[in-house]
Amino acid sequence: MSPAEEVSGIQAARGMRDSLPPATINLARIESAARERFSLFGYREIRTPVLEPLSLFQRALGQSTDIVEKEMFTLQDRGERALCLRPEGTAGVVRSYIENAFDKTMAIPKLYYIGPMFRAERPQAGRYREFNQIGSEYFGNESPASDAETIQLAAEILRASGLDQFEIRLNSLGCAACRSQYKKVLLEFLKGVEQHLCEDCRKRIQKNPLRALDCKTDKEKLKDAPQTLQTLCADCKTHHEDLQNLLSLAEIPFQISPQLVRGLDYYTRTVFEVYPAGKTGSQDALAAGGRYDGLVEELGGPKAPAVGFAMGIERVMNALEHSKTQASEERKGIFVIALGKEAIPQSFRILTELRGNGLEAEGVLNQQSIKSQMRLADSLGKRFCLIV
Ligand code: HAM
Repeated sequence: MSPAEEVSGIQAARGMRDSLPPATINLARIESAARERFSLFGYREIRTPVLEPLSLFQRALGQSTDIVEKEMFTLQDRGERALCLRPEGTAGVVRSYIENAFDKTMAIPKLYYIGPMFRAERPQAGRYREFNQIGSEYFGNESPASDAETIQLAAEILRASGLDQFEIRLNSLGCAACRSQYKKVLLEFLKGVEQHLCEDCRKRIQKNPLRALDCKTDKEKLKDAPQTLQTLCADCKTHHEDLQNLLSLAEIPFQISPQLVRGLDYYTRTVFEVYPAGKTGSQDALAAGGRYDGLVEELGGPKAPAVGFAMGIERVMNALEHSKTQASEERKGIFVIALGKEAIPQSFRILTELRGNGLEAEGVLNQQSIKSQMRLADSLGKRFCLIV
């Protein structure tokens, strides 16, 4: 096979997609709406590596989570160190928090990130192997006001992106003490229905019973499982109630969703998910997050409560397409049409001058007919034509 033939047969890897214009324009719009909101709320950007040590995710997300068990793209570097394409952003930000001692170097560590994440999931509508997240992490504040701010931020970014039909689902998993109490009652319940559960869930009962609750196969059979709200201690209960009061104060509508547990092990207390109105499938969640008060310490850092969220940009774009509220593109910019060879230098000078003055200007300057150049200007959505 010649190199050309080889190349012509190459397609994007399974579950990976090109982002093409005009979709990239919407992508950039959502990102800039997010940046604006983050800046209003006092968050600063962090960029962490796409490749991280594999052990970071195994320790942070939990060995028996779906992501760690079957969705990570792993590889070895030349020194045979095990690495992994990041499946999510929180673990890397926490690693960086510890490595760079943000508790000492930042007055209020409030960080945001925008970038690609990788999960080897079965590709389907809304579920990709490479996708982009917008996320934030707020460290060092245990007040429910920081949970409220995180949820408010997620809602405001969605609204600023043009989406206002969404539902926020809220639950509390409690602290480590509530969790161990909850595990006991859950285990009792699971043992009672064990023989009806799938093989994965039977394994989960041994390893990490909470993970059975996000099983896609046994969802229906587990709908009567005990709820985390039933085993909250007094402090966690107050935290959960205070958060609800703050959200109401900010006029952010939400629903309590007692079955919501999230698919990652690091959460404590608050967990939440945001769905387009009327949708609930796991491939539909627009954004999700919660509090993880123990993670920084578990990964070897200081005691630091934290809360954050991440939004799937492609999911937001899909929802915008369905709601048809996408902003139609305005005509803008100038198209310079050169008529004949002698007009080319003059047109080139004009294009240079227009762009130099900060105006969007385009021109092909290749002696096409005026008709075909006008057509080009039209299909590019230009507002004016300048004929030289
Ligand atoms: P997550 O729920 O795994 O949470 O992902 C957050 C969002 O990323 C989802 O709600 C969804 O919009 C998007 N997403 C996830 N997987 C895919 C996929 N395969 N294709 C397209 N979009 C996807 C986290 O990642 C946590 N780190 C969130 C967080 C931050 N919690 C605290 N801080």
